[in-house]
Amino acid sequence: MLEKKLELLEQKIELSELGGGQNRIEKQHDKGKLTARERVHFLLDEDSFEEIGRFVMHRSTDFGMEKQQILGDGVVTGYGTIGGRLVYVFAQDFTVFGGSLSETHAEKICKIMDLAMQNGAPVIGLNDSGGARIQEGVRSLGGYADIFYRNVLASGVVPQISAIMGPCAGGAVYSPAMTDFTIMVENTSYMFVTGPNVVKTVTNEEVTAEELGGASAHSTKSGVTHLTAVNDLDCIHRIKQLLSYLPQNCEEKPSRLPYELKDEIRDQLTGLIPSSSNQPYDMREVVDGIVDEDSFLEIHPNYAENIIVGFCRIGGRSIGIVGNQPMSLAGVLDVDSSKKGARFVRFCDCFNIPLLVLVDVPGFLPGTDQEWNGIIVNGAKLLYAFSEATVPRITLITRKAYGGAYDVMNSKHIGADMNFAWPSAEIAVMGAKGASEIIFRKEIANASDPAAMLAEKEKEYQDKFAHPYRAAQRGFIDEIIHPKDSRRKLIKAFAMLENKVAKLPKKKHGNIPL
Ligand code: HXC
Repeated sequence: MLEKKLELLEQKIELSELGGGQNRIEKQHDKGKLTARERVHFLLDEDSFEEIGRFVMHRSTDFGMEKQQILGDGVVTGYGTIGGRLVYVFAQDFTVFGGSLSETHAEKICKIMDLAMQNGAPVIGLNDSGGARIQEGVRSLGGYADIFYRNVLASGVVPQISAIMGPCAGGAVYSPAMTDFTIMVENTSYMFVTGPNVVKTVTNEEVTAEELGGASAHSTKSGVTHLTAVNDLDCIHRIKQLLSYLPQNCEEKPSRLPYELKDEIRDQLTGLIPSSSNQPYDMREVVDGIVDEDSFLEIHPNYAENIIVGFCRIGGRSIGIVGNQPMSLAGVLDVDSSKKGARFVRFCDCFNIPLLVLVDVPGFLPGTDQEWNGIIVNGAKLLYAFSEATVPRITLITRKAYGGAYDVMNSKHIGADMNFAWPSAEIAVMGAKGASEIIFRKEIANASDPAAMLAEKEKEYQDKFAHPYRAAQRGFIDEIIHPKDSRRKLIKAFAMLENKVAKLPKKKHGNIPL
């Protein structure tokens, strides 16, 4: 009797492994995609996967669905390890009803999300789905809402990562949007609220799915995806890379690699700042000269390129970097860069990742486009995010720190712990030319040679403010350092701040200007 029962179990396991059947697996491969089980296999440490809900089947009886039952109901869920660390995973199986989300499919995802929150480990969702299971109507919509609700509850408790490895359309996009990071596979994935057909009907625009919501659109135009991958395996690699910088949950610190101070002088930083203050340079070179070798993982590399954000290691510690990028729009803050920076800062603060802020900012971008798109409220997001962050926060001003942007970019006044400046730093209300034109307007107008007078006043203003010593005199800058010594100073400062404790006033939650 027992033998028969064991035999039945083995048959069922085999059936569930096959998902929608051999031919559908081949179809998936033909599209250049791995199957859900293959994705889980490559994501997790060998033999670490434990499946939950393998025998779940849908409860639908409409449209002949009762005759179409596939074990697992289109999603593989469970837990395993990555680099020895516990993670929870769900992988939608496009070979079963197009990976569409039924009531039971949603229940499986909710179950592992609940476990992840209770046990304090990241949730990784591998999305590949035609959206709500059409045959189930409102039950599948309810299933989505059950997931969305958990996305919000889990936000800031455990890291949530979404890989988009196929279709993700309609309201389904809102679960990835509420997770911490989204990674899209180029050419095989797309995300949109309404697809090309609806777009054509409503707006008369002709657009392909790829143009509308492919990895390229979302990594450059909308900023919906943080990273892109060339194929499924690359996507899985990216997830692992990202996880390596993160702690398991909000109660833990990220793991620290062993590191001993050695020769930390980086001569390449000395000549990096061009002699003319209007000449651009690549802030990534500053990053390279500061972080542990090859440790920088840039997030959102092709979106709002005037600000750089990403994870790195400095002396073995996981650190989040936010830096103005003089190579793009001279490093100004605008609507998109403020939003990009703010979201990243808030993520790091949720998960105890200290922040390094590299400043070279001429101010906020002027113009009707920016004002009408809300640079006020969006710039405020970055200001709010920094002000609220209680993780160790260090600033290094490499060159310009002008106007309101000086305040915003992790100034001492909004709670930064250590503020360094290179001797090339210029800290002032505005650039010397603009300032002179305003405050010396009369002298310039009355001068026999206005141009010469402007140049003279510009020099006077520059001598007064185009350096960091005034700010250091007031203690707004803690130390003016030699560029080549930056890495050593930062390793030591982050070590010094290791046990920082800072508490915000008691409140339900703040009201970030969304
Ligand atoms: C049930 C679905 C399905 C769905 C696909 N299938 N989507 N079954 N519900 N939502 C089934 C197909 O019937 C087919 O079954 C199999 O999955 C594979 O689909 P194909 O169309 O053959 O695949 P492909 O050509 O690759 O096209 C993929 C696709 C297309 C573009 C995703 O399937 C599609 O347009 N699906 C519907 C998308 C949609 O409108 N979803 C609802 C969005 S609204 P057979 O048996 O023939 O193999 C939504 C609301 C969420 O999601 C709200 C949350 C708040």
